[in-house]
Amino acid sequence: MHCTRFVTDSIVWTGASDRRLHLFENLFPIPRGVSYNSYVILDEKSALIDTVDASVSRQFFENLLHTLSGRPLDYLIINHMEPDHCACIGELLLRFPDMKLVGNTKTFDMVTKFFGSVPTERLVTVKENDTLSLGAHTLRFYTAPMVHWPEVMVTYDEKEQLLFSADAFGSFGALSGTLFDDEIDFERDWLSDARRYYANIVGKYGAPVQAALKKLSALPVKTICPLHGPVWRGDLTKILTKYDTWSRYEPEERAFALFYASMYGNTENAVNVLAFKLAEAGVKNIAVYDVSVTHISTLIAEIFRCSHLVFASPTYNGGVYPAMQNLLHDIAALGLKNRTAAVIENGSWAPTCGKQIVTQLGALAGFRILEPAVTVQASLKEDSLSALDKLAEQLTDSLNNG
Ligand code: FEO
Repeated sequence: MHCTRFVTDSIVWTGASDRRLHLFENLFPIPRGVSYNSYVILDEKSALIDTVDASVSRQFFENLLHTLSGRPLDYLIINHMEPDHCACIGELLLRFPDMKLVGNTKTFDMVTKFFGSVPTERLVTVKENDTLSLGAHTLRFYTAPMVHWPEVMVTYDEKEQLLFSADAFGSFGALSGTLFDDEIDFERDWLSDARRYYANIVGKYGAPVQAALKKLSALPVKTICPLHGPVWRGDLTKILTKYDTWSRYEPEERAFALFYASMYGNTENAVNVLAFKLAEAGVKNIAVYDVSVTHISTLIAEIFRCSHLVFASPTYNGGVYPAMQNLLHDIAALGLKNRTAAVIENGSWAPTCGKQIVTQLGALAGFRILEPAVTVQASLKEDSLSALDKLAEQLTDSLNNG
């Protein structure tokens, strides 16, 4: 049975949600599922904006055919060619033999790579600022390369002042009937998934996101229709402000995130002691994570949120403990910037990983490292408590006055 909602009088949401998928991109846990949004514009000509992942194609086709009610589909606008959105192109080409694909040259290069060659008479190639009239609706196309693949474009509906924004402004999380931002409690129910989605999927591409935000700031936009998560038609500044902060790699909150790796509980103990010292100094916003337990996508999202970070690790094979090294690798790969960090190392006979962590963090733009790193030899003892006291003082001072 079809399961659709009207976004405006002439635009219908025809997407679907997947609550079965365990790992998005076979990498990221999605306990709240994910939605794949797709939209149909009904005008003198009909247009579909992107398709969905193959896993929800049955629901998508029921939605599409119901919405078209026997009309032909004239255009498929392809804003993004990642398979979570383009999977149904092949079947659409078969079902609607007169349908034309609308995309840019990079789009069609990827169409060929995924689906084989499509006759040129079925391709409408657009470039920056080109328009396509459907009747009352005029669509204007803007390229948004690397938000999140090179071919990405966004489509602006001039009549509705509505932006089909591709992956931008999306979120993990299945839709529970409530499609619009004014039907949900974004901060309570969606923000952490929106942050985790941004940080891990788009987080590497801060500069392209900034370029896209600048380009779009010239447009009057009443509604944002992303490819995942809620549609924005209320207070757009909520999501725009978050995207601006995240893409500038500025922390959302002056807050602590303490990350530890611990084989037998001794490094964990040092971090717990430090966390209690911070709390006793009056700090309230403190989160502590075991990097071997909490998924790295959550750790990365917390680094996007927090201004102050502590990394504590045992020395392992003369290097950094693997789970911590994996986190440091991801931080560098995503190009994170502009944080204050401190390091605690542990080692029973040769504690050496602190210097290696400091070197890696020091190579990141805008990272300020509070030195010296604290060294724990096997377990925290009275004679090493003063070093933790000093670190707590440095961190608190930096949080309050830095
Ligand atoms: Fe939701 Fe980049 O695909």
